[in-house]
Amino acid sequence: MYSALLFLSLVSSAAAHGWLSILKIGNHQYNGNEPIEQTPHPAASVIRQIANNLPVKDTTSSDLTCGRSALGPASLVATAAAGDSLQMTWKTLADGGKWFHDVGPMMTYLASCGSESCNKFNASEAKWFKINQQGQEADGTWAQAKLDNGSPAQVTIPSNLKAGNYLLRHEIVALQLAQSEGGAEFYPSCSQLTVTGSGTGAPTESELVSLPGAYKSTDPGILIDVYNMNGKAYQFPGPPVAAFVSKSSSSSSGSDSSSPASSPASASAASAKTTSVAKTTSAAASSSTSPSSSSSSKTCKGKRGIQRRAIVDEEPQQARAARIPDDREAANAALTTTFTTTDRLT
Ligand SMILES: *[C@@H]1O[C@H](CO)[C@@H](O)[C@H](O)[C@H]1NC(C)=O
Repeated sequence: MYSALLFLSLVSSAAAHGWLSILKIGNHQYNGNEPIEQTPHPAASVIRQIANNLPVKDTTSSDLTCGRSALGPASLVATAAAGDSLQMTWKTLADGGKWFHDVGPMMTYLASCGSESCNKFNASEAKWFKINQQGQEADGTWAQAKLDNGSPAQVTIPSNLKAGNYLLRHEIVALQLAQSEGGAEFYPSCSQLTVTGSGTGAPTESELVSLPGAYKSTDPGILIDVYNMNGKAYQFPGPPVAAFVSKSSSSSSGSDSSSPASSPASASAASAKTTSVAKTTSAAASSSTSPSSSSSSKTCKGKRGIQRRAIVDEEPQQARAARIPDDREAANAALTTTFTTTDRLT
């Protein structure tokens, strides 16, 4: 039995990815629930619960909106002030609960829920505008990699944002397998906000997009070999950050690596712009750095090492997905395989 459990944990670590676990707005903390598969009876939350923690891989899927089967509302709404800082902590079922992908962008969108509170808003109708995107820093590492030590992703609500009901969509894209079409992994999450303030900032009509809709599987930022970028700047998918955001007083904190100049090759040109991100994130990183955890799970910090590790991690899941389209069945199949394999071992 012990070996069966041990094996089960190894298998789940190979298939496990993540969900938005904590949303901190200023000093208020809101907790998200684990996926329905782990927590069928969730606590009331402002964060829409996802069905399971597998990635979204199809850019045309309705799961791209808010994560797996998460179009429907959560029960609560958080109040935030324009200009508030957002700190978003992602968790997984592996690596001690910490996020473990290291390559690919993080992007943040808002959509107006109109006059209705966002806990009544079906996200399939949402028209999104981008408020932040974070890619590579001057040294070539991705802002996403900072999450691996438990640090939150950091974004600021534009200080000039018009008050109203907004759905917040924070998304991580993991690109370790993106060199073939359909390999990119999308992890979107949606949280329900009411934003207060006296600003008038709003996107223009042409800055609004639908998701799914705004991404194509062949976009240069989605079909890409991030291990061979040859000095080219990363091109973020989706629309540019809405223009009004750059007029907010907080635009220097975090929305920075949206500049195409953030490629390592053009590091000197980009360094001025990327410094602010590096500062924000490294402050958070140092506060929660645990040397033991970073050295134990990161024995292959070299780019090739990471790539190899990622492929090893993902293959069983991909193979299952190819055989069995339904994820729930795939999960069951994984369990069956586990016990069969364990039987053979014991
Ligand atoms: C949201 O709207 C879509 C499209 O009309 C519909 O298919 C879906 O069932 C709705 N979801 C919820 C939770 O109401």
